[in-house]
This record gives sequence, structure tokens and C-alpha cells, in this order.
Amino acid sequence: MSSFLFVTPTWDGGQWAAEMRKAAPALDVRVWPDMGDPATVDYVAAWLPPPNVVRSLTGLKVIFSLGAGVDAILKDPTLPDGVPIVRVNDPDLTMRMTEYVVLHVLMHHRQQRRLDENQKKGIWDGFPTHAASGLRVGIMGLGVLGQDAAQKLAMLGFKVAGWSRTPKHLDGVQCYSGAGGLDTFLARTDILVSLLPATPETDGILNRALIRKLARSGPFGAPVLINAGRGRQQDEDDILAALDAGELHGATLDVFRTEPLPKESRFWTHPRVTLTPHIAADSDPAVICNYVAQQIAVYERTGQLSNLVDRSRGY
Ligand code: NAP
Ligand code: GLV
Repeated sequence: MSSFLFVTPTWDGGQWAAEMRKAAPALDVRVWPDMGDPATVDYVAAWLPPPNVVRSLTGLKVIFSLGAGVDAILKDPTLPDGVPIVRVNDPDLTMRMTEYVVLHVLMHHRQQRRLDENQKKGIWDGFPTHAASGLRVGIMGLGVLGQDAAQKLAMLGFKVAGWSRTPKHLDGVQCYSGAGGLDTFLARTDILVSLLPATPETDGILNRALIRKLARSGPFGAPVLINAGRGRQQDEDDILAALDAGELHGATLDVFRTEPLPKESRFWTHPRVTLTPHIAADSDPAVICNYVAQQIAVYERTGQLSNLVDRSRGY
């Protein structure tokens, strides 16, 4: 019997284990710290594992991330070399992220925050609106999540572009890549959406210099930022300063440098900020356990794994 260990100190490991037992009844499912003999663990699913725990699993075959991002695993400085890392690529998670991106692009486009304020004050103000085709959305990160969101936004009529590390071709989406393509991409963007992974290259990328390169010729006279990638991408003082100075018209932020977001953060009360508590694309335990169980079944039959992380790229 193969054994499977959850190492999820900040999540309810018991709930995950219950779902995993349903998805793969033949697995011996354990929850750290009750892991038995570490040498007998074949598979581990981890999120923010404490140092040396994954390393102690000397017979380990595969490490699973319980989300699309893998920064929570790669930040373990003691992670053993050579063990493959598989991340989540599942239609359930992708659709949740696309819903979030479409919702918030539409919210800014249709000025819903302004309408909510007017309703609270009893103000009937039929201000002029504009067509989706009058807004240029730019998505940083054209991976699994970015591509799906880009295509759905294009279906709604927005002018959509994307930016990635390597060149892409996507129907209905203007694609830019690399450092050489960034400024042109920003200069045509009214609503910037980040769906980038957290890597050393993307650390602090959403800063004031970048914000100043965004378009100012759109319907709001200043751009909007939506970040559902990772908080480490944000220079949070720069974003607040850009909002205060009117260099940013508004922002939707799902992720933060420190989570939970500290009570004293100005983001909580800023009138131009909509914030959500890192729920853009939740990992549903039942869905993700089925995904992991399927990967293990294929691996035990064929030795093949899909959606492998490239440790040298960091995602
Ligand atoms: P993915 O398929 O690996 O896509 C990542 C994309 O980012 C790729 O297009 C990649 O370019 C691009 N990229 C990476 N580094 C870059 C750089 N230095 N410059 C330009 N582009 C770069 O990942 P995914 O499944 O779409 O997920 C993306 C991220 O979303 C995750 O890593 C995670 O941080 C975040 N996320 C957040 C939530 C939430 O609830 N807020 C939920 C799930 C995921 P290439 O295509 O050229 O490789
Ligand atoms: C959540 O943030 C994920 O990476 O899936």
C-alpha cells in the first residue's frame, strides 16, 4: 500500500485527508505531524511545509502542490533536490479564477462601486457608460489561468492583450513577451490584471514605475490594477501612493505581501480599493484530491506525471 502525507500547517489537514481517502481509498493517508515512519511516505502534498519535514521523507516519489502556485513549497530551503513537484491545473480552479477576473473587470468597467455609493446616498445619477470594446485589458501571465481569463474577456468584447516570459499565439488576444515587449504592452493597457507566479523576477514588479507606463487615454483617464497573482508582486506603498495621486483610478487586490492583511493596512479603507482575502480561485479539497489521486494512479501505472514544476524557472 502506498502512503500519502499532508503537510499543511496553515490548513485543516484532517479535512483534506478525509477527501483524499474518498478519492483514493487504497492509499494510506496521514497528516503531519502524525506521519509515522518518514521513510515509508511515498507522496506528500504540502503548503508552507516547515523546514526539514519534506526532507525527512527519504523514500519520497512526488511532491504535490495543493494550488496552482508553488511558491509556498519552493520557499522551503530544505526541499530535497530531484523529487518531481506537480502543481494544480484543473478546470474547477481555472474557472474560479476566470470568474474572479471577469467579475472585477466588469465591476470597474460598469463603475459598480460608484453606483453602490450613489444607492447608499439615494442619488439617481445616470452617468454615461461606455462599451467593453472601449477598454483595453492587459493580462500579465498568459499561463493556464491567464489564457482562460483572456479568452473569456475577449468574448465579452474587451480589447485583450497578454504578456508572458516566452512568446505566445492566442486567438483574439494580442500577445507580448519578455522585457522587450513589456512597455508596449503597458502603454496599451487600461485595466492591468496580474496572474503571474511569485518568482525572483516578478518580485515587486507592480510598482510605481510600472504603473506610470500604463495608458491614461482610457475612459477613466487613469488605469486600474487587478492583482490575483501573488502579493510579493506588489510594492504596496507604491500602489497606495499611485492611488492617492490619481495615477491609478482603482484597484482590486486579492493577494498581499502579508496575509492575512494586517488590520492597520490602508488598503482596508481606501475608497478606490476593493479587496478580497486570497479567494480568487480557492482550492476545493474534493476537486484537488481527485486531481492528485488521478495523477498518482497514472504515475503508478505508467511512471508519467503532468503539470510538473520547473524548479529553475520557479513556477
Ligand atoms: P502558469 O500556467 O505557470 O502561468 C504562469 C504565466 O506567467 C506564464 O504565462 C509565464 O510565462 C508567465 N511568467 C512567469 N514568469 C514571468 C516573467 N518573469 N515575465 C513574464 N511572464 C512570466 O500558472 P497559472 O496556473 O496560470 O497560475 C498563475 C499564478 O496565479 C500562480 O502561480 C499563483 O501565484 C496565482 N494564483 C492565485 C490564486 C488566487 O486565489 N489568488 C489562485 C491560483 C493561482 P510563460 O508562459 O512564458 O512560461
Ligand atoms: C492559490 O493561491 C493557488 O496558488 O492555487
